[in-house]
Amino acid sequence: MSVIRLTHLTDPHLYGDESERLRGVATLPALEATLAHARRREWPPDAVLVTGDLVQDDPAGYAHFRRLFGALRLPVLCLPGNHDEPAAMRRELDCAPFVVGGAVDLGLWRIVLLDSTVAGAAAGRLSAQSLAQLQSALAAVPQRHTLVCLHHHPVPMTSRWLDRVGLQNAGEFFDVVDRHRNVRGIVWGHVHQSYDAVRNGVRLLATPSTCAQFLPRSEEFAVDRLPPAYRTLELKADGSIVTEVAWIESGAGAGSKSAAWAAA
Ligand SMILES: [Fe+2]
Repeated sequence: MSVIRLTHLTDPHLYGDESERLRGVATLPALEATLAHARRREWPPDAVLVTGDLVQDDPAGYAHFRRLFGALRLPVLCLPGNHDEPAAMRRELDCAPFVVGGAVDLGLWRIVLLDSTVAGAAAGRLSAQSLAQLQSALAAVPQRHTLVCLHHHPVPMTSRWLDRVGLQNAGEFFDVVDRHRNVRGIVWGHVHQSYDAVRNGVRLLATPSTCAQFLPRSEEFAVDRLPPAYRTLELKADGSIVTEVAWIESGAGAGSKSAAWAAA
């Protein structure tokens, strides 16, 4: 376990009705195609990570999630997004292999799963309780490399509409992160696009959705005509992170990508 490997899938936006579409993409078949792609390369990881919006405001979607991810026979680390129903999510995913929230130790690493949702709001906020959870998860094991996971973006995405619905108290979040020396990476969903940066030596990573993507740096809401995607993460013993975004038609030219996943 000197290297921990995670597969990060996010924002599947499932419905109970398996033909239902979001921004022109049938979300269940898109998730199935994404999982099939992931299983054809570097499989199995040590765990699968899913950072929110498991369903699109439809608790009936959790049954699909439970069936597909339960069949992987791997730990499935989850946290809620703004389109989830946290009570239904905890109820539906209340046993192994699912872990909803909290902290999980894998090898030399700790994975912290935060709930940044605010009932009835698209934007996020970490409650005093979540900030205290983060503080104690980091302080308890200062020698462990830590990956902090949440749904909402804690840094601007340079996209006016998206930045209105990011993490509203990012300053308080980074106050906690900056007090500790063991945070190696912060990972989120919500933005349906890829992002990779470094802040104070901490890797900042957003992963595209397993369904429709959003156009980066757009002032107003706009869908990007890119296919579903996921991210592989290798968490090294020295605290470094090797990561790659895999688009499920990575061999196709841009034109055919667009044709296959065009928004309706
Ligand atoms: Fe989403």
